[in-house]
Amino acid sequence: MKDRIIAACGQFPPQFGDIEGNLERICRMTEMSSADLIVFPELAISGYQFQNRDEALSLAIEIPGGREIDILQQAANDTDTHIVLGVAERSGESLFNSSLLIKPASSNIDNDDVVTIYRKLHLFDREKEIFDSGCDAPKAVDTAVGRIGMMICFDWIFPEVARVLALDGAQILCHPANLVLQYCQRAMFARSVENGVFSITCNRIGTESRLEKELTFTGSSQILGNRGEVLAQAGSDSEEIIRAEIEPALADNKMITDNNHILNDRRVEYYKMLISKDL
Ligand code: ACM
Repeated sequence: MKDRIIAACGQFPPQFGDIEGNLERICRMTEMSSADLIVFPELAISGYQFQNRDEALSLAIEIPGGREIDILQQAANDTDTHIVLGVAERSGESLFNSSLLIKPASSNIDNDDVVTIYRKLHLFDREKEIFDSGCDAPKAVDTAVGRIGMMICFDWIFPEVARVLALDGAQILCHPANLVLQYCQRAMFARSVENGVFSITCNRIGTESRLEKELTFTGSSQILGNRGEVLAQAGSDSEEIIRAEIEPALADNKMITDNNHILNDRRVEYYKMLISKDL
């Protein structure tokens, strides 16, 4: 595994329904980034504002087997880059808002899956009419660029997701997003600090007005250090690649003072309400 890696975000405005154009942009930005790991927005290939589930199904991809995966895999191989991006994923009768991690062929970690999938647990607003919510616990995965955990957009407001990933050893949280609320980027500071992990939030920009309600996305993608330092930040409305050099293993140090380990100091016996929905 590399000691230091270049992490990047490819912030852009996916064009609704333009699968080919969006894929081309993702491949081009991957090449331009010269990064070891690049994160793209949520639903980066399809766009966000589906009119209904049928429309989303028509723009969803299947894994394995989708032609889109072959194109992304080729881009990862050609550039030796790990790619994380959000997609609409069809699986049998189900439809998920998913994040994919696509490793380059050169990745020397012995890992069965070439593509790792995380299915969004916490659907936002109208997404509940479109998608099925994920049913698998978030898991971290070893790669040649560090141990990676994925979460998607609105998952940020449930600190349990980042915590579970940190407990599973994640060093870097990869966080594709289509944020419309203003405060997620600041909240991710807390997710990084309270778990001692790097976080890469890649948010989209632009506007979609396919329904009565126009949505404007807030950009400001960011790469945060394991103590919450802002290592790179994008503008709120500009297409851009941001990059930062990071040392993933720093996230293994959970000592926040000489006497405080942020995971071992938890008093879990007092947190029982956290694993119950009874209020
Ligand atoms: C969101 O989860 N797309 C806000």
